Amino acid sequence: MRILAIETSCDETAIALIDAKGGLNNPQFKIIKNLVASQIKIHQPFGGVVPNLAKREHLKNLPILFKKILNSKSYILNSIDLIAVTVGPGLEPALWTGINFAKNLKSNLIGVNHLEGHLYSNILENVRMNKKNIFPAIALIVSGGHTILVKMDSLAKYKKIGETRDDAVGEAFDKVARLLNLPYPGGPEIEKLAKIGNADAIDFPRPMLNQKNYDFSFSGLKTAVLYYLRDNKNFKKEDVAAAFQKAAFDILIKKTLRAAKEFNAKSIFISGGVAANKTLAKEFKKAINNQKPKTNPPAGGEKLKIKVFFPNKKFCTDNAVMIAVAGYINYLKKKNKRLAANGNLGL
Ligand code: KG4
Ligand code: ZN
Repeated sequence: MRILAIETSCDETAIALIDAKGGLNNPQFKIIKNLVASQIKIHQPFGGVVPNLAKREHLKNLPILFKKILNSKSYILNSIDLIAVTVGPGLEPALWTGINFAKNLKSNLIGVNHLEGHLYSNILENVRMNKKNIFPAIALIVSGGHTILVKMDSLAKYKKIGETRDDAVGEAFDKVARLLNLPYPGGPEIEKLAKIGNADAIDFPRPMLNQKNYDFSFSGLKTAVLYYLRDNKNFKKEDVAAAFQKAAFDILIKKTLRAAKEFNAKSIFISGGVAANKTLAKEFKKAINNQKPKTNPPAGGEKLKIKVFFPNKKFCTDNAVMIAVAGYINYLKKKNKRLAANGNLGL
């Protein structure tokens, strides 16, 4: 099945074309085209995404990207079986541009939840995943707007078990970056700076770390950084970045591993923009290797073996390939979302 997907929920205009086959137990994907027109440069002077500018840029970029797809040899509109389009969550004026563009193409349409796109972004290329026993799994979605823990019994069956009560972790990266006078988006800038900083130089708080739930809170951590900068005029930017990043990742990793243990997860899927951070991947792997089994220790004192999956970097941040994949899973599940923008759509 050939799927065209359109993503315009925030500041990336993205269109992708993929071939999908197989059932819910073994879906397979071939990426034909993956186009993303980034608006970062447009929003950068404002320190964040400006909804009306995003809308204007989507309107400008959608026909350009679409033409590029059609020009790529034989991929004419007639060969497309399904069009998947993001309906939420995100900026409503931005979402509408993608939905209206998709409606005009007059093909089979399926509305997709952007968060499901992130959730399924791991099954794209991880071939290992189709072959081995990976469920139950714990999924952690870490983006600019969301921080969500999900228990997955299968690709089709999942349940949210926790989420942030205030700021998303990506948002905290962006806000701390602004405090340090770093450009938007802040995540990659903090990651770069943290590499040359001392993460143990400052002991920032880890809100909600020891609470027996799977919710998060990052606004207190951001405020702690604000007070630190106010009270320590000679602070080292790189140490602040490194210590903030360490505190944020400590919370994400400990809570995710606790959920993995409680639900006897065989694997962990990380997704969303913050998953592009290489230090997060390194720290996750380190924490898993250091873990002791909770019950029934395997013979010979083996370590608990949970597989942790990160998508390829280009599928961590917003893209339309993940929307095509989520569209296919929902097509197999015979589920469709209403084709109307819903800025607050939940998982
Ligand atoms: O998933 P995404 O592209 O868009 C949303 O759905 O929100 O995530 C964007 C977020 C931004 O907050 C950005 O600062 C963060 O992901 N991000 C990172 C990195 N790359 C992007 N955070 C930490 N480290 C990174 N390398
Ligand atoms: Zn996203």
